[in-house]
Amino acid sequence: VRGGAEETTTGILRLKAMERDGALRFPMVAVNDAYCKYLFDNRYGTGQSVFDGINRTTNLVVAGKTVVVSGYGWCGKGVAMRAKGLGANVVVTEVDAIRAVEAYMDGFAVMPMLEAAKIGDIFITVTGNRDVIRGEHYAVMKDGALLANAGHFDVEVNKPDLEALSVSKRTVRKNIEEFRLKDGRRLYLLAEGRLVNLAAGDGHPAEIMDMTFALQAMALKYVNEAHESIGRRVVNVPYEIDEQVARLKLESLGAAIDRLSDDQKRYLESWQEH
Ligand SMILES: NC(=O)c1ccc[n+]([C@@H]2O[C@H](COP(=O)([O-])OP(=O)(O)OC[C@H]3O[C@@H](n4cnc5c(N)ncnc54)[C@H](O)[C@@H]3O)[C@@H](O)[C@H]2O)c1
Repeated sequence: VRGGAEETTTGILRLKAMERDGALRFPMVAVNDAYCKYLFDNRYGTGQSVFDGINRTTNLVVAGKTVVVSGYGWCGKGVAMRAKGLGANVVVTEVDAIRAVEAYMDGFAVMPMLEAAKIGDIFITVTGNRDVIRGEHYAVMKDGALLANAGHFDVEVNKPDLEALSVSKRTVRKNIEEFRLKDGRRLYLLAEGRLVNLAAGDGHPAEIMDMTFALQAMALKYVNEAHESIGRRVVNVPYEIDEQVARLKLESLGAAIDRLSDDQKRYLESWQEH
């Protein structure tokens, strides 16, 4: 193996941990961190396909409901944006102060999960972290709350805690499990807490994945040629590749952009001109 290319946020975290521990055996290109990946795939792809998954699975109305989005990273921004577009009242929970300010300025309510748990109708986790929704939160949720994860694996919504608090569970519809709690409240877990857009929907549209897979292919070509100089490291996709993918995408969309004139280039590069 000469090298590889990693698709997603969580995968890159793990590879960087391997690099730090000296466990990485070949170079890896961090495709997720390319502009043409996270700006579009994570944001617009996840944003849209999460609601495709939730809506086709539940056939409930989103408008007027309180949607709690945990994590205001690239996926969370997309999910929150689409929830707002569908008419939901959106609440964001975060652990990062800068991203929380961003969510606030984007017009969303920001609060800790323990508060959001009391008012949410639909919960969507997109943090890449574990136990984001857990026992203490289930204890205060409204009857009928929906729990969905679109982040990492099936650990963001803590399932053992949900089982422990429940007296019974049944499948009420494909990909919807009802947990009846001791006090009679019912909580609904979608797609067993796995990525709801993939497990209960079709995933991202091909029109988004075209850019992601173009980056993957170009990243593999790059690592094949440069693996010796890169060494056992996690490296970014070179900017030229990112830009080339964006240009190809624009071309396929039938959209064109302006080019800098020589005068404009000089103006931008110089510190002497006014
Ligand atoms: N469903 C999909 O198709 C899909 C697509 C792309 C990425 N992902 C996955 O989604 C996850 C998020 O990706 P991203 O690119 O948005 O990552 P990101 O790093 O941009 O954002 C994650 C955010 O979650 C926040 N966070 C972490 N722990 C938290 C907690 N306990 N409570 C609240 N917020 C918390 C972080 O502060 C961060 O702002 C990753 O696991 C990624 O692999 C899923």
